[in-house]
Amino acid sequence: MSEKEILESMKAKFTEIFGGEGTAYFAPGRVNMIGEHTDYNGGHVFPCALTLGTYAIVKKRDDAVIRMASMNIDDAKITEMSVDNYEEKTEGHWTNYTRGVIWALKEKGCKVSSGFDVLYYGNIPAGSGLSSSASLEVLTALYLKDIFGFDAVSQLDLAYLGQKAESDFVGMKCGIMDQFASAMGKENAAMFLETDTMKFDYLPLVLDGAKIVITNSMVKHELASSEYNTRRAECEAAVKELNKKHDITTLGQLSVEEFDADCELISDETKRRRAKHAVYENDRTIRAVEALKANDITTFGKLMNESHTSLRDDYEVSCPEIDDLVAWAWEIDGVYGSRITGGGFGGCTVSIIADDAISKYQETAKARYMEKYSKEPEFYVVTPGEGAHKIG
Ligand code: GLA
Repeated sequence: MSEKEILESMKAKFTEIFGGEGTAYFAPGRVNMIGEHTDYNGGHVFPCALTLGTYAIVKKRDDAVIRMASMNIDDAKITEMSVDNYEEKTEGHWTNYTRGVIWALKEKGCKVSSGFDVLYYGNIPAGSGLSSSASLEVLTALYLKDIFGFDAVSQLDLAYLGQKAESDFVGMKCGIMDQFASAMGKENAAMFLETDTMKFDYLPLVLDGAKIVITNSMVKHELASSEYNTRRAECEAAVKELNKKHDITTLGQLSVEEFDADCELISDETKRRRAKHAVYENDRTIRAVEALKANDITTFGKLMNESHTSLRDDYEVSCPEIDDLVAWAWEIDGVYGSRITGGGFGGCTVSIIADDAISKYQETAKARYMEKYSKEPEFYVVTPGEGAHKIG
């Protein structure tokens, strides 16, 4: 469906279930090109926003009633709450993300003072690792800022609010990358962000003779949240042991050379591998961006491949389906690089593929995947899109 068709069907649904008309907003999902599991380690990331994402139609009310519905869930069944009891979570319910944003705003001193009606629709497949939840959070922060006139909330604050909602309200202790990409994305550009200082640069990401191809393994990353928090704790424990010699607060502050010289300070072998990934991946991300600036897609692609190997073997956040998709991609001429993207445990791969090799890649991956796993992967050939914005 085109954006126009999406908005038309949402407007009709909004009138049907809530009555009247509202204002439309959009926030994108993201794909991370390289720099995985580095954001909560104070390292670098290199994501771009997608043109896929989540839409909302919203209308403020005069009373204290909040009504939320999503066209993706239970045929837009309405969940009702009030400005006084929105903090009551239901385990696993999608509104926890949106409730979390109202809470994060309150914590920032921006109290939602009256009710509203909102209808959502998202075209990112849920559980695919393309940040459908971050887009939902950033979108909610955006429209609440707009309808309640929270002028002190900046575009970057939308990212912090979304992260706070996910981390402290929903309970997935995520880094800033996904919400940052959703809020700050730019058409045809990727963002090189240093999460320690929040300094960032936009880099053009339109590749000469090649495209970004996302492959959805259709394995939902359900384990992601608990395993994610474990990885994060393992990295923090490794920092503590490295503190015997290095005055650091995050693994991103350590060079590859320093890590190699002193990794034995980390007593546990598993934690050592986790830390190795974080330090090396940060270094790879910096080198990959240098390569891209020099128009060297071949080196960029090789670093993507190394990133995958490290995520598979040292960080252990991949799964057999994804490892196969990546290994099969590596065999095809014209594939510059291919790796798992996002939090892991399923979801998608991201590949850079020469224009004339894309159909061969898709046909091969589809046939082999169908034969081995009896399910069909989905492919999205993407270009970077705009960050969260009001449509009107
Ligand atoms: C998830 C988190 C991000 C980031 C990635 C891994 O998407 O939300 O903050 O840590 O995993 O790179």
